[in-house]
Amino acid sequence: MSNSEHLQIEKLARIKDQVKNGGGEKRIYEQHKKGKWTARERIGYLLDSDSFVELQPFITSRHEVENGESYNGDGVITGYGKIAGKPVYIYAQDFTVHGGSLGEMHGKKIAAILDLAGKNGAPIIGLIDSGGARIQEGVASLDGYGQIFRRNVLYSGVVPQISVIMGPSAGGAVYSPVLTDFIIMVENTSHMFITGPKVLKEVTGEELGPEVLGGAGIHSQKSGNAHLVKATEQEALEALKTLLSYFPEHNQQRARLSLNKEKTDNLRPQLLDIVPSDSKAAYNVKRIIEQVADKGSFMEIHEHFAKNIVVGFARLKGEAVGFVCNQPKYKAGGLDIDASDKAARFIRFCDCFNLPLITLEDVTGFIPGVKQEHEGIIRHGAKIAYAYAEATVPKITVILRKAFGGAYVALNSKALGADIVYAWPQAEIAVMGPEGAASILYGEEIEGAADPTKIKEAKISAYREKHANPYAAAALGMVDDVISPEQTRIILIQALEIMYNKHEERPKKKHGNMPL
Ligand code: HXC
Repeated sequence: MSNSEHLQIEKLARIKDQVKNGGGEKRIYEQHKKGKWTARERIGYLLDSDSFVELQPFITSRHEVENGESYNGDGVITGYGKIAGKPVYIYAQDFTVHGGSLGEMHGKKIAAILDLAGKNGAPIIGLIDSGGARIQEGVASLDGYGQIFRRNVLYSGVVPQISVIMGPSAGGAVYSPVLTDFIIMVENTSHMFITGPKVLKEVTGEELGPEVLGGAGIHSQKSGNAHLVKATEQEALEALKTLLSYFPEHNQQRARLSLNKEKTDNLRPQLLDIVPSDSKAAYNVKRIIEQVADKGSFMEIHEHFAKNIVVGFARLKGEAVGFVCNQPKYKAGGLDIDASDKAARFIRFCDCFNLPLITLEDVTGFIPGVKQEHEGIIRHGAKIAYAYAEATVPKITVILRKAFGGAYVALNSKALGADIVYAWPQAEIAVMGPEGAASILYGEEIEGAADPTKIKEAKISAYREKHANPYAAAALGMVDDVISPEQTRIILIQALEIMYNKHEERPKKKHGNMPL
């Protein structure tokens, strides 16, 4: 090697060292002091060792080149690598450079990595730590966001997109994550808001700290923006790895079978004792999921939001599936606005990425009341029906107990396109519960009777006998079979195996118009 070549290589190493130093030692120290890792440390932890390949480390802000100090990389690290041997594309915002704010070139870099992920068919991961639009770059920053949003939408349903919020996510920085499939937040150190506390105080006079305005608790319990919340950055990145393990790399693929699949498909007698014989008594549907799914394979999504419905990924004999289940423990498992939004979004994700849907149903109906009506339960509730009817993946329903009215129809009924509907023997499938039905049908007769209570009870019992059982629905073909609860796991595994090659075409259209 000649002397000049040697010097060039030394120069390259020097610049790359500078790149690795981000916004400098002092700011890295500040980052650590807040309990946060740097962008590079996060990538290093997340990806398989030595698999990260960085792209565009020399990108620099044009604004800064013209106006003073500039940083190679422009506050975001992008590239590709592997997680559990599978390819992923990644970007991680570097808070030590202008607070991870998004300027023109920073935006271009993210857009470029999104294009690579979308065109090459691998998941895209965003590690967000950003003060939003880089104020000093003006409209160029806003344009940068637009470039990213467009690509989030373009590749939505093409490759899984996951965002982990690991610091502030302020202003424009919130919209890209929310356009992706999943948001994971870290307790105490991550915050999401369109308008930060300082601006809020100026504009509305409200004085709220970041945690109350947009902390992980708020977004995982109240707004529903965050799908998973973890106590530390390490746990959040581990959750991301687990989440990815259920997904294929892109929408033309099936998820890989789990290697440590549970082979047993034996009877589960424990399922005989979970649903109480009193049809009004509550129970925890997660106990049923645990018995039906491979041991320890259930990963709940949106655990703390709209608890009256439970959604999550699991495996059955190694195959990844999505579970959608009413939760009688909360609001008697009734469907409200938040539950409808939660379920519909989950169903659509599963359909995008070829994950069969298993619905465990025990629902009294859509929750009545003026609040729900005025806030739009009609259009929100319709999202569930829309999402199920639209989905072409294998769709199986098991009616555990109650299946009443519109909620029965919306929750993957046969009419809506379920492939197979099973019911347990104690299932009650009817337009409404026996008590309400008796009042409406025989109200006058009951009121005029010498002993109204006795007559009412007789009417309720006659109604239950005639309508509130699984056999009327089975006789009409709306239930394919009535099964003993203990058979459920075996029967679901058989159904999934037989439906593995399911293919369903839909009329050609640009896209549907889901009620939003
Ligand atoms: C440029 C920014 C910045 C921004 C932070 N910095 N936000 N630089 N543009 N948006 C810089 C700071 O100047 C500072 O630089 C460094 O990042 C760290 O910021 P601090 O304020 O010292 O850190 P901290 O106290 O931890 O507070 C972080 C913060 C706060 C909560 C993010 O900086 C903040 O509130 N920033 C503004 C957030 C905001 O309102 N963004 C909305 C922008 S408008 P030095 O050199 O000192 O290290 C927007 C609309 C887009 O995004 C809409 C698109 C659709």
